[in-house]
Amino acid sequence: MHIDSASREQLQEWEKELSAQYQRICEHELSLDITRGKPSADQLHLADKLDGILNGDYRAADGTDTRNYGGLDGLACARDLGADILQVPSEEVIAGGNSSLTLMYHAVLTGYLFGFAGNTPWRELENPKFLCPVPGYDRHFSICEQLGIGMVNVPMTDSGPDMDAAEELVRNDRDIIGIWCVPKFSNPTGVTYSEDTVDRLAQLGQIANPGFRIFWDNAYAIHDLEQQVNLPSIRSATLANDTADSVIQFASTSKVTFAGSGVAFVSSSPANLASLKQQMQAMTIGPDKVNQLRHSRFFAEFTMLKEHMQKHAEILKPKFACVLEQLEKSFGESDLGEWEKPRGGYFVSFNTRPGCATEVIKLAADAGVKLTPAGATFPYGKDPEDRNIRIAPSFPPLEEVDTAMSVFVLCVKLASVRKQLQMA
Ligand SMILES: Cc1ncc(COP(=O)(O)O)c(C=O)c1O
Repeated sequence: MHIDSASREQLQEWEKELSAQYQRICEHELSLDITRGKPSADQLHLADKLDGILNGDYRAADGTDTRNYGGLDGLACARDLGADILQVPSEEVIAGGNSSLTLMYHAVLTGYLFGFAGNTPWRELENPKFLCPVPGYDRHFSICEQLGIGMVNVPMTDSGPDMDAAEELVRNDRDIIGIWCVPKFSNPTGVTYSEDTVDRLAQLGQIANPGFRIFWDNAYAIHDLEQQVNLPSIRSATLANDTADSVIQFASTSKVTFAGSGVAFVSSSPANLASLKQQMQAMTIGPDKVNQLRHSRFFAEFTMLKEHMQKHAEILKPKFACVLEQLEKSFGESDLGEWEKPRGGYFVSFNTRPGCATEVIKLAADAGVKLTPAGATFPYGKDPEDRNIRIAPSFPPLEEVDTAMSVFVLCVKLASVRKQLQMA
């Protein structure tokens, strides 16, 4: 189907056929949901042995009684686990509670209220702003929005954020005090940052406001579907550029063990960790060390973690293959949309023709298929071109992903043809 070269008569004919198909689908009264990147029950089952693994032995290898208060940095063995995931030294890791998003919120608050490493708190700037590579992760944007921190879109390319744009913005605006990055299997595009991008990001600290921080949300650090994809080390790059204070890294086991009961990690320079802990010590006497110990026993060796992630990949692969097959079959030879083929992570990002995403999502919803709301992958929920749709195939069973995708491709076709007819 090529819309740009189609005659009005051809478009009208397509519209009639597609509308009839759409009506038939609506009669099925479907109720499917491919909105959020949650692990499926099968994936959660992989970690069921966490339950009971302590078997009454609550002492960590270093003698800590994990049932008691204390240990703001987290258990040593849990910090080792975070260090393995993020490929950084354990001394530079804090193992926290169940959510890396909480740690990110906490870190933004630290920068905003108190400033990192002796720098001016962001709230004292006239108009503090974060750079937001787009499309991106909606919950990052919600943190900024809630705190009144401005957001500036930076386009994503297939090697990471557009660094020419990022450098230009950082150089010319001292109020830019952060950037959100999902460097591996980015949410939602699936892109992994290239060596050049990582290197240029590491150099931003040389030209930015000294309080500037890169929020390196490595949520999908070990979530490869096929062979392992290598993400260059931001830590090494910042050490080489004398900008180690400019990066704060995050990860968690949310999509490794239990999404709601995992362990989250933050890693950064000693100066930044001290700033984080200064605020943290007023908030808590220590994290859930019992859960940290459960995770450390479950993944006694890093190889066990890797084997575990392969089992996740086996469950996820057919679902991603199904989405990609449906897209290829329907749009491979068309001008109706573009998408990335992710090698890991949780999403497939689809761009419709300009101005069609909202309508596709509405049509799909009316036919019983819930998609992430239009604009969700952009700050303030505003996709300037109304194109991006995030597809999250992990949670529903394969048959449901397949049915949902059949509805999705039909809605893309119908919305595109109708839009073209309006414009013609
Ligand atoms: C990029 C990204 N960061 C963070 C999270 C949430 O992580 P956590 O469960 O550790 O808070 C998600 C979940 O979808 C995510 O996609």
